[in-house]
Amino acid sequence: MNRSVITLANLSKDKILYLIKMSEEFERHPNRRILEGKIVATLFFEPSTRTRLSFETAANRLGARVIGFTDPKVTSSTKGETLHDTIKMVSNYADVIVMRHYLEGAAQYASEITEIPIINAGDGSNQHPSQTMLDLYSIYKTQGHLDNLHIYLVGDLKYGRTVHSLLMAMRHFNPTFHFIAPKELEMPEEYKIYCKNNQINFVEHTNFNEDIIADADILYMTRVQKERFTDLMEYERVKDSFILSNHMLRKAKDNLKILHPLPRLKEINMDVDSNPHAYYFEQAHNGVFARQALICDVLNISLEEIINDKTIIN
Ligand code: CP
Repeated sequence: MNRSVITLANLSKDKILYLIKMSEEFERHPNRRILEGKIVATLFFEPSTRTRLSFETAANRLGARVIGFTDPKVTSSTKGETLHDTIKMVSNYADVIVMRHYLEGAAQYASEITEIPIINAGDGSNQHPSQTMLDLYSIYKTQGHLDNLHIYLVGDLKYGRTVHSLLMAMRHFNPTFHFIAPKELEMPEEYKIYCKNNQINFVEHTNFNEDIIADADILYMTRVQKERFTDLMEYERVKDSFILSNHMLRKAKDNLKILHPLPRLKEINMDVDSNPHAYYFEQAHNGVFARQALICDVLNISLEEIINDKTIIN
């Protein structure tokens, strides 16, 4: 059985909660030797700071070794080697492949040509399941549960793979999503159909102000994805459509947390950073524990083994 993680949409509610428990266990004890002898390959065909470094931190803290590349220009893909052959080759060297690729479907394709597990670290505008795992963990940690939440998705809902991924993974938890995007970047029809087919409530707003977000439990801000635009004039027109400032949080619910997958540009003013509702830097930190859970799960290491693990260092 191939244990690849291409999307979280196919996971059961119990499996998601199980991975959250595993993340909690790793947050309690992140430094262990449970992956001693394993090799994790990180293949990044697109730039990354958080995803690559937190996967590598996750692997290193568990005693695995890491190989890989951060720029495809230094690989034989520049000589014309296909993704197919690159995956075949790396499968000879590593126990798990973490891959980010600019093509939608690339991770699924990779998982079909190798026996070793692939973890999708983002495929074009499609999915970003490890980001979603850390988002779910962050929501669970801050709200105490995942059920019946009002989640506001703001910014680039067309190209933002993190919002697509999160929307699909939340289907078991009766969320109400609120979509706030410029017309050009609204949530694609296929995801609205997904919501309808899965009884997920959603509301579309045209304004972004303190009254609109007063009911939010989670305010999930996103960057406009310049790299996905073919028309840069259009990017310039829409890039600063919705900006969150501190004064807009006056009516926020006590439990509101502001998330952002990062990197941020101007969509969250720096005056929000010290507001107690801001959670995006802690969210990124949670990525280490959520990714430790994903790596162990694809390597078939159970929560029970992790709880009984005798290799804890501190
Ligand atoms: N959130 C996220 O994917 O960040 P990076 O692009 O820096 O990995």
